[in-house]
Amino acid sequence: PALTQDGLKKLAADKAVDYVKSGMVLGLGTGSTAAFVVDKIGGLLKSGELKDIIGIPTSKRTEEQARSLGIPLTTLDDHPLLDLAIDGADEVDPGLNLVKGRGGALLREKMVEAASKSFVVVVDESKLVSGLGGSKLAMPVEVVQFCWKYNLVRLQDMFKELGCEAKLRVNADGKPYVTDNFNYIVDLYFETPIKDGLGAGKEIGKLEGVVEHGLFLDMATAVIIAGKTGVEVKSK
Ligand code: A5P
Repeated sequence: PALTQDGLKKLAADKAVDYVKSGMVLGLGTGSTAAFVVDKIGGLLKSGELKDIIGIPTSKRTEEQARSLGIPLTTLDDHPLLDLAIDGADEVDPGLNLVKGRGGALLREKMVEAASKSFVVVVDESKLVSGLGGSKLAMPVEVVQFCWKYNLVRLQDMFKELGCEAKLRVNADGKPYVTDNFNYIVDLYFETPIKDGLGAGKEIGKLEGVVEHGLFLDMATAVIIAGKTGVEVKSK
């Protein structure tokens, strides 16, 4: 029988764990695909197949999961250089550039993944796009709470040629979604994909009060893609 989407996510996750070796300082990603990776690492530590792994979680959620599995944890303050980080993504373009942060963890993810010697991304094939922003789903920008509307308007204006619509992320109760770092998220929706990701990232970064954006450019060392015909590894 054909694998479900969860089955594909698990397939990619299992493949990524092959990159994990005993003794590594390891970045632990956030999201449903990364959760399969964390689960598997917990199991391999328990069985003794992996030893002396120390993890750096990219969100409070992942921190809780790792703790419940008994994975020893540390921080970037104590271990500023990681051997490997493994995480999911929301979009992957042909150049292995990513959109991340639909799960809200983009800031810690970017800090941890940028500090890692290698960064392996795990996705099912539904995440592949020909251009970033092309999935019609959100491209998140983390902003300070102070005058968030001011930044929402500035972001929407910045990308008006791409038919950008900016929305404050809210919870089911209608209240603003608050990140692990006590900020808000403005989600950008594009009619036309972003052509110049680097330029877009730079422009967004110039806005005072913007903390981080979900464009992860030139960061992935390899992307593991699980699809109906099997698992493919793309690397630079
Ligand atoms: C979390 O903030 C995101 O960057 C996730 O990595 C991304 O949303 C992928 O999540 P799924 O694996 O659940 O699709």
